[in-house]
Amino acid sequence: MSHTEKSITAHRSDALKGNIRIPGDKSISHRSFMFGALASGETRITGLLEGEDVLNTGRAMQAMGALIRKENGTWIIQGTGNGCLLQASQPLDFGNAGTGARLTMGLVGTYDMETTFIGDASLSKRPMGRILDPLRLMGVQVTAQGDRLPVTLHGPRRAAPITYRVPMASAQVKSAVLLAGLNTPGITTVIEPIMTRDHTERMLRGFGADIEVEKAASGNRIIRLAGQGTLKGQVIDVPGDPSSASFPLVAALLVPGSDITIHNVLMNPARTGLFLTLQEMGADITLLNEQITGGENVADLRVRTSQLKGISVPVERAPSMIDEYPALSIAAAFSEGKTIMAGIEELRVKESDRLTAVAAGLEANNIFCEEGTDYLIIEGRPDGKGCGGGTVATHLDHRIAMSFLIMGLAAEHGVTIDDASMISTSFPQFINLMTKLGGSFT
Ligand code: S3P
Repeated sequence: MSHTEKSITAHRSDALKGNIRIPGDKSISHRSFMFGALASGETRITGLLEGEDVLNTGRAMQAMGALIRKENGTWIIQGTGNGCLLQASQPLDFGNAGTGARLTMGLVGTYDMETTFIGDASLSKRPMGRILDPLRLMGVQVTAQGDRLPVTLHGPRRAAPITYRVPMASAQVKSAVLLAGLNTPGITTVIEPIMTRDHTERMLRGFGADIEVEKAASGNRIIRLAGQGTLKGQVIDVPGDPSSASFPLVAALLVPGSDITIHNVLMNPARTGLFLTLQEMGADITLLNEQITGGENVADLRVRTSQLKGISVPVERAPSMIDEYPALSIAAAFSEGKTIMAGIEELRVKESDRLTAVAAGLEANNIFCEEGTDYLIIEGRPDGKGCGGGTVATHLDHRIAMSFLIMGLAAEHGVTIDDASMISTSFPQFINLMTKLGGSFT
């Protein structure tokens, strides 16, 4: 593969040292823009992730009537009021962002107006049926070819509340149904057999929605939302994204002699599966300054280089680390023995097919990996000797790009990725921050 302008090589680096603050959490940032746009009055947001994905959500909200501006580092939104979004005059372009597109489908799908959703080549390949199916049950007319973008939605005069059992572990599906419920009379109920990230529930409650969560004896989470209530603007300080933190964290574990501290990381238990897994593998991660901010646990993470051992990752932990398997795969590549990651078929429908992308990237860099339909088994090379030297195809996937750059910082021969441009969707400062810590890139 030839070296193009977009490609970057990460080289084996000296010890990583220093303190960093990573950008705001992507899930909370998307929701802050959406709920602020919908609420009555003013929402003020600090710490927002200003990545392309979130900015596209902001543009979509502006196109539907919200006023959004930035003053001295604070994003200020004048929302339309619940039920009062306006018809967009153009298709809404969500670029690379599944969360932006899918949650917004829920947010406006039940409006009696037409909304068209488009996205980039990656997003246009991703399944939307999981969102469109419950919306159809609520009375939404869907125009789409094969349930892929572009999709046009037209809600009914009066949407029907539903009780919906989410068929796969997906916070996006859960959230889309709840957001559709905001514009629906009566109670919309979501049954979640496997708990996923709960930012929608927590934040909607903060905005004043009438929402309750019951943990049933069966183990199901039952979420009930009363539609057509009033949402009130809020003040939100977005904590640092644990998914973005995973890249410097894994890099510090692998690059010999490293000692870094990552400040203000969201520690919501539905998001911290990777930290737990790495600790079980022998990672030296210390939590400092643990506190609760805006209803969420946050902490600073001190990370020191550690010799890791492969483990079998508990299947039930997958939803709490679903975006972290590419980063974990890199940690596994440098661990002693095998790491087994099972029950991860959802990785096939992320920004790329991450099971195949990770397996191909590892193989290109001399790490043995077995790819099954819903699992990966990685055999580590603890010292990184003989590892690297390959070029990785990133398939428009920011997490594949960052994971293999992290690999290059610890691999004997460095690692090249074909396209670093997508990193800006979630972590625009990635190369700068990693360089500041001591990482070497050309
Ligand atoms: C997200 C949910 C997850 C995750 C995505 C963000 C969210 O997707 O992978 O990055 O903010 O709700 P799924 O719902 O498809 O698991």
